[in-house]
Amino acid sequence: MQFFVDTANLDHIREAAELGILDGVTTNPSLMAREGIAGEKNILKHYRTICEIVGEGRDVSAEVIATDFKGIVEEGKRLAELHENIVVKVPMIREGVKAIAHLTETGIRTNCTLVFSAGQAILAAKAGATYLSPFIGRIDDIGWDGMALIREIVEIYNNTGYDTAILAASIRNPLHIIQAAKAGADVVTCPLSAILGLFSHPLTDIGLEKFLADYHKANPGA
Ligand code: G3P
Repeated sequence: MQFFVDTANLDHIREAAELGILDGVTTNPSLMAREGIAGEKNILKHYRTICEIVGEGRDVSAEVIATDFKGIVEEGKRLAELHENIVVKVPMIREGVKAIAHLTETGIRTNCTLVFSAGQAILAAKAGATYLSPFIGRIDDIGWDGMALIREIVEIYNNTGYDTAILAASIRNPLHIIQAAKAGADVVTCPLSAILGLFSHPLTDIGLEKFLADYHKANPGA
């Protein structure tokens, strides 16, 4: 399972990249706004900087603002021209699916976002989306089971042979990451805090403290 970090914060992206286990980055208009990135020139510059930080072969999802076919395709092409890492993130709407099919035909990779049902997952895969982003946390937020959707889509894609990668999004904590891995997601995208949370175990801390104390007892002054 690949690890993407879901942020437009350059410090978090650098920290995740330095861990040596980062496979990519996803952003969205809310995450860009949270970092104060506004205006087309600044937005494009920020995407380019993210691509340079993560380096070759690590996908960076950049979301379109347009919601009509022509607008999505034009914006998608502009984004894709920015850097070879860019994957164009397109919302799960009729015009979006149409645009995904067109962009796929022209060789541009896409990430279909705002996915909340198995039916939507089928449409995106039929259109040839590279990635599919079901929003786990937001489904949990309304008292439904987000991870059940991942399991359902995994079953459908296995049965049908669709090769769209299932990118579990709106992941909020370490448990979500573990559950997504068990459910068979191809990718998880999450805040840096959720990735760092995977490191924590009190027995690791206690064990390391004891190993070091024993070493120093046996090697005084070392
Ligand atoms: O980038 C899309 C998704 O991961 C957003 O997550 O936490 O805002 O529901 P969240």
